Amino acid sequence: MPVIPLDDHHWAITTPASTYVIGVEVDPLTGEAAPRQTYWGPRLTPEAARQVTCLPKRHVSSFSAPTEIEELLPVDGGGRWGSPSLQVTFGHARSLEPQFVEAGVHDEGGGAERLDVVLADAYHPFEIVLSVRVRDDTDVIERWTTVRCGSSGAEVAITRLDSGNWFIPDAAAYRHSGVFGAWAEELQLQRGPLPVGELVFTSRQGVTSHTANPWVMIDAGAATEEHGEVWGVALAWSGSWRLTTTHRPEGGVCVSGGFGHDGVRWTLAPGEELVAPPVLGLYSGGGFGAASRSWHEYARGHVLPTPLEEQPVLYNSWEATAFAVTEAHQLELAKTAADLGVELFVVDDGWFGGRDDDTTSLGDWHPHRERFPEGLRGMFDGIRDLGMRAGLWVEPEGLSKESELYRAHPEWALHMEHRRRDEKRQQLVLNFARDDVRAWALGWLDRLVTELGLDYLKWDMNRPFTQAGWPERETDQDRVWIEHTRGVYGVMGLLRERHPGLRIESCSGGGGRIDFGIMRYTDEVWPSDNTDAHDRQTVQHGFSQLYPASAMSAWVTDSPNLTTGRAMPLRYRFHVAMAGVLGIGGNLPEWTSGELEAAAELIAQYKRVRPTVQHGLQYRLAGTPGQERSAVQYVLGEQVVVFVYNPLGNAKRGPRRLRLTGLDPEALYELEADGSRWYGATLMASGIRPAAWEPIGADHRSEMVVLRKV
Ligand code: DGJ
Repeated sequence: MPVIPLDDHHWAITTPASTYVIGVEVDPLTGEAAPRQTYWGPRLTPEAARQVTCLPKRHVSSFSAPTEIEELLPVDGGGRWGSPSLQVTFGHARSLEPQFVEAGVHDEGGGAERLDVVLADAYHPFEIVLSVRVRDDTDVIERWTTVRCGSSGAEVAITRLDSGNWFIPDAAAYRHSGVFGAWAEELQLQRGPLPVGELVFTSRQGVTSHTANPWVMIDAGAATEEHGEVWGVALAWSGSWRLTTTHRPEGGVCVSGGFGHDGVRWTLAPGEELVAPPVLGLYSGGGFGAASRSWHEYARGHVLPTPLEEQPVLYNSWEATAFAVTEAHQLELAKTAADLGVELFVVDDGWFGGRDDDTTSLGDWHPHRERFPEGLRGMFDGIRDLGMRAGLWVEPEGLSKESELYRAHPEWALHMEHRRRDEKRQQLVLNFARDDVRAWALGWLDRLVTELGLDYLKWDMNRPFTQAGWPERETDQDRVWIEHTRGVYGVMGLLRERHPGLRIESCSGGGGRIDFGIMRYTDEVWPSDNTDAHDRQTVQHGFSQLYPASAMSAWVTDSPNLTTGRAMPLRYRFHVAMAGVLGIGGNLPEWTSGELEAAAELIAQYKRVRPTVQHGLQYRLAGTPGQERSAVQYVLGEQVVVFVYNPLGNAKRGPRRLRLTGLDPEALYELEADGSRWYGATLMASGIRPAAWEPIGADHRSEMVVLRKV
């Protein structure tokens, strides 16, 4: 089984390709128990794991505690001066002295086991449970922390609760990787040396954020796409968060992660508990590519609600119509979309209240009075009559000051007494921590889905929190930072339960809410409002580091692009979007008949390779996407699909041959384009010569290469 007891206080957590050894040692002087990680790396036999239950002691002087980074949860207390993963205030004292209570392994079924290590403060009735879940089909280990205020004690204030701290084994040098960005420029991959000190990536926005995504990967400086050891940590949470990477001057690195941000305070009454969301750890010995493939498999196996389904080709009306949604125009778009082979038609913002622009109506979720006097049923019947499924944009957490809802319930907005209510994108945020708000949201969403027979909701969230208070909660208003996110999960979960056929897309002004937390409730996510295929390539490259192509919504839009003004060939736009879940977002009546014909052909081609793109193993083959010749490959069963890109046509430098990977060296593969047959060994060692990579030609040339194992 995956959790192997090594002795009565050490355990080897064993995944298919890795071992993670943890133990609880009691300090003979203080009696304190500090559960520590003693190993995380390639898989070991239990006998070998027994030999790594003890780490070499790091140099300790009275001025430093270098071993605290090995702890599963370095608390604020005793001789620790690093970034605390748990900070609690008892009355006026702010220091924990955890002692060991017990540990137990639980069979969770389906090949999963959970180890719980229970600690308690030496004096106060306060319990800490460190949980580790391991499964037999993934190298991703899930950890989280539960804290409980004993019913016999007084209330305690929690000012930091991480889900867990991960220690990265010693190396001479370290690099860190992550994705960062901004609106319309999300998920830009950065990789660089890890300086000594504390490196904090965080969102204080109440949503995951465009600025940084909650994951970090560490390597010893030499990992490449296909080689080398990589340790990854990701947080499954969609509100504010913090990941702190500490590189100690004496050597050694740890990454701690949890929800909330600095200063957020949670009061636990006697008898109450607080459970942190999962923080995930992955060791991979096969470079960044293998690490990404393991994350993708984990997402498909244990996160996404419908991983076995093929995500449909959708049309979204936003870039074509903005707020000017009318039945006639949507049906005109729908007719052309259906002719192209689109399977799901999504009506975006502008269908409700008096929503003619973004100044008004969020909260008034009834059909727009002037534009849909008869309701929306006719439009959706029309869409279904064209043979497509029907989807609708909503922003349940949004609240316009200019709305019936705000006039009736100003107290439902996040707000603080004696403070302004700042609007962003001319709107406030509804407090989903409130029971009445969630009940209201579930009520109208449920009715909408039922009455219109909706198959799909695009759940948007267009602004971060400000003045995030909840005056009714008096001394415990900060709860809203956590309860809001749980509330959103709760409403999405109940909606899905009531409508098992319903599919949901997560969007937050583009890519502001992409993480393994929201992916438990949503089938796909929208990575960016920037649909320029050139820019999109870097966004998709960043997305693919952790998240699978089956969850990555990607539209083909107009040229020149609405956001960037860049003109680009239709094929390139398609080939970039076909590397994820293909969608169309252009103003179709403006497309020429030649473009429509080509689009129909490309959609048909996508459907032929869709299972491989969405469910296959993904290999990032070469080059920095968007900046030089690059390619991405997918393999499923007998089919191999490669998208090849060349953004700078006239660049003479750069490879002409493209080496494939992940093939069976002894098998023959047939190129769909000309029927020629090649050994896997040849394709991997020598490669193919893509036409799009020939050095002289137009910018933005691309092609899709399909091979079949014969
Ligand atoms: C932001 C989203 O990212 C867009 O796709 C669109 O849905 C708009 N909101 C609508 O207001």
